[in-house]
Amino acid sequence: MKTKILSVLESQKGTYISGEKIAESLGVSRAAVWKSVDTLRKEGHKIKAVTNKGYMLENFSDVLTAKGIRENLPNDTKISRVICLGEIDSTNNYAKKLALNGEPHGTLIAANHQLSGRGRHGHSFESPAGTGLYMSLILRPDILSDKFQMITVADAVAVCLSVEELCPELKGSLGIKWVNDIYLRGRKIAGILTEAVTGFESGEIESIITGIGINVSTKKFGGDASEIAGAIFNDDVSFGRDELCAKVADYIMKFAENLDDPSIIKAYRERSILTGHDITYMKGNEKCCGHAEGIDDNGGLVIRSEAGEIETLRSGEVFMIRTEEVRQ
Ligand code: BTN
Repeated sequence: MKTKILSVLESQKGTYISGEKIAESLGVSRAAVWKSVDTLRKEGHKIKAVTNKGYMLENFSDVLTAKGIRENLPNDTKISRVICLGEIDSTNNYAKKLALNGEPHGTLIAANHQLSGRGRHGHSFESPAGTGLYMSLILRPDILSDKFQMITVADAVAVCLSVEELCPELKGSLGIKWVNDIYLRGRKIAGILTEAVTGFESGEIESIITGIGINVSTKKFGGDASEIAGAIFNDDVSFGRDELCAKVADYIMKFAENLDDPSIIKAYRERSILTGHDITYMKGNEKCCGHAEGIDDNGGLVIRSEAGEIETLRSGEVFMIRTEEVRQ
């Protein structure tokens, strides 16, 4: 039903067709038309509904499909397979299952909606339908260079470069908050969760699942996220999620071949928003204050403690001590 309704709307893209007319032509009720329109909207189709006018499919409709993603990948891409899902609990969970079944390096899983999107440190990641990009990549460590811990750093750079290419007016505005949060206009617009799948018998890392969530046009966030989360676009969206997905995935796969490439860490440092600011961080159970000096060659955060000692954090959560001058 929804496919038929979509083709009726597509045949007159940009003009209104009454719900009654659509219902009549397909031999269904107006309520059934509305239900299908609602589903299509959740999938990302931009359909306007106006009383006394009917429904209109907007000229730019952002729908995520495997075909759309593939069409946006360059010929020399290292992505081996593209899977696009309408709705899933978490693309990282899905990717893990596939990886355990032997899915090869370079498989990309994207979803339009996640029901239980996961973030770092046990947080959830709000993943509403149609307005965000939720994607995971399966990587095999034997194909990656030695420095596979650097994949999260590479992911953050991949997201920034992709958004900047698609939206040149945002150049200079995107920031990376160590280790893997992307900020725009003082709000977190993307997060990264990288997980290892270890062989039951070997105890060795057999695959790495790197998952990225980007708020493209999400307007409302609930709970704790309402305080910090934002989206790339507040108004009209100017690129499709399939284009963004292809770009991010392609960058990551290329970076993954040479995680030692100094241009990756250089791009990360240029966008690091903690560098030069006072921060709080955890050392065991103790909350400490320090000054973020910079990012080392392995993506660690170099800190000068209050006692004046230099230490490097490899993981953990860090908060900027906000003053008016540093407020993003
Ligand atoms: C964070 O902000 O702490 C990390 C968020 C990571 C979210 C992405 S969305 C795709 C993939 N699937 C998940 O369940 N999580 C990651």
